[in-house]
Amino acid sequence: MKKILELISEEVMKAFKDAGYDEAAGKVNVSNRPDLCEYQCNGAMALAKQLKCAPIQIATAVVEKLSGSSTFSKAEAVMPGFINLNVSGEFLSDYVAKMSESDKFGLEAPDKPLKIVIDYGGPNVAKALHVGHLRSAIIGESVKRICLYMGHDTIGDIHMGDWGLPMGLVMTELKERQPDLPYFDESYTGEYPSEAPFTVSELEEIYPTASGKSKQDEAYKAAAMEATFKLQNGVRGYRALWNKIIEVSVTDLKKNYDNLNVHFDLWNGESSVHDLIPGMVQKMKDDGFAYLSEGALVVDVKEETDTKEVPPCMLLKSDGAAKYDTTDLATILDRMDKYNPDKIIYLTDKRQELYFTQIFRCARKTGLVKPETELVHIGFGTMNGKDGKPFKTRDGGVMRLEFLVRDVFEEMLKKIKDNKDIGEAEAESTAKIVGLSALKYGDLSNQPSKDYIFDMDKFTSFEGNTGPYVLYTIVRIKSILDKFAAQGGNITSCRIAAPVNESEKNLMKALSFFSQTVESAFNELAPNRICAFIYDLSNALNSFYHETKILTETDEAKKAGFIALIDLTKRVLETSIDLLGFSAPERM
Ligand code: ARG
Repeated sequence: MKKILELISEEVMKAFKDAGYDEAAGKVNVSNRPDLCEYQCNGAMALAKQLKCAPIQIATAVVEKLSGSSTFSKAEAVMPGFINLNVSGEFLSDYVAKMSESDKFGLEAPDKPLKIVIDYGGPNVAKALHVGHLRSAIIGESVKRICLYMGHDTIGDIHMGDWGLPMGLVMTELKERQPDLPYFDESYTGEYPSEAPFTVSELEEIYPTASGKSKQDEAYKAAAMEATFKLQNGVRGYRALWNKIIEVSVTDLKKNYDNLNVHFDLWNGESSVHDLIPGMVQKMKDDGFAYLSEGALVVDVKEETDTKEVPPCMLLKSDGAAKYDTTDLATILDRMDKYNPDKIIYLTDKRQELYFTQIFRCARKTGLVKPETELVHIGFGTMNGKDGKPFKTRDGGVMRLEFLVRDVFEEMLKKIKDNKDIGEAEAESTAKIVGLSALKYGDLSNQPSKDYIFDMDKFTSFEGNTGPYVLYTIVRIKSILDKFAAQGGNITSCRIAAPVNESEKNLMKALSFFSQTVESAFNELAPNRICAFIYDLSNALNSFYHETKILTETDEAKKAGFIALIDLTKRVLETSIDLLGFSAPERM
């Protein structure tokens, strides 16, 4: 189904043509002066310059051709040569009625679906998730859902940090605490215990302890490096112990991501591509890209047009150890080999921007990707506290993600209990759903690259530009529809009709932007577009609700039109919040 702006533009382009002008000038935009008109076409202005005539002359001729069109209720040429347009109620209600019947509300499938891999989440095993990982998970999940909904074949990969020195550190500390574990006995040939010798909370305490010790104690650090070496070179006990670390950690990660409604198709990590590194490095050497510089193996990636320094990519350190760069490059090799993607999208903090410039250039230069493979980094800003500094716990520590989620849940629970006489169990499950919307919407409504302030009061409010407000709107519609059904009404037999008042027309107009919103959210990788759309749509619905007697309308045809329209609004809102990664409760 065509987008509404396309339909309107086509009509105006035809009028330009009929009036004897270049039809390309007939492109229409949403008006930036909604007080004057709904849509506008400014094409006569540029055209007049070319033709050296007065723009109003062209605009007037075009408007004449539009008279009698059923698309417009108003088409006006105004000085110096703008064309102001309002669409007719019938045109709009026809469009919205078609949306209602169409798959994906009329969003067209792509000519050729793309294969897209999204690299997001990026947690480090044996370390607790902290709020820094929140944005990658929230934005990545939404981007993935948008790509999928657009009809692209999309794979989400968590890309865990599971392979470097942190692993060696954890194992070294374990060895200090439990030296008798069979994992450390290199002559041991039996089966290793099935039970892990630690819990997840122990693991999370072990890593910072070990990391602290290694900074004070050279011998300890050397032991950790040796343990890392043994792990990476396949020493049996170290691999077995590492498997236990992964097992315990991944179970816990899954629980945390499930709570956030974030789901990955692939649970790969840096370790997954370890075996690809030697071959990849050798090829980069053979092809003349990689060379030794001060003992390290590097690939130059600077370009003449660079305005700031772009250092070389480092493949191997002087001790021969692989780096974060190396695993990312080998992961590209692996993904190209397995999925041959058209696009790989990475979500990390924007402080890794230069790093990804290096990686992408290196991957292109060395032929890891095809020339047409798109590599995209979405670098996001920081979540700050009210003081404008990166979000911290009250005592200044790093906030664990699960504690943040818990705090939002508790705040939401308070509000939900204030609000209604909902029972304890329902209040809790509702608070979880609404709390997630507060957290996610608070994040996603910002442009990803921007920093934002985590504001508990604002995010959890039922009013204003918030997740709970959107959910409240959905719940309101559900309750009207329930009442309608209880009065014996049949929703499925209701049809959208021409709008009877301005607020109903506005609601239709808001709905009509769905497909173009999803498309621009995809093109710009910007879930904030969807937030802005559902905020407008919720406002339009609520104005309509306040200005229109829906259930008490005595004209049955009108009432059916209202019901069909709010039902469509509900479905569009529910689909949109699913693209953002949250859902609505039955009541709140
Ligand atoms: N584990 C990394 C971190 O916590 C993030 C990984 C991002 N993804 C990637 N392919 N480098 O900083």
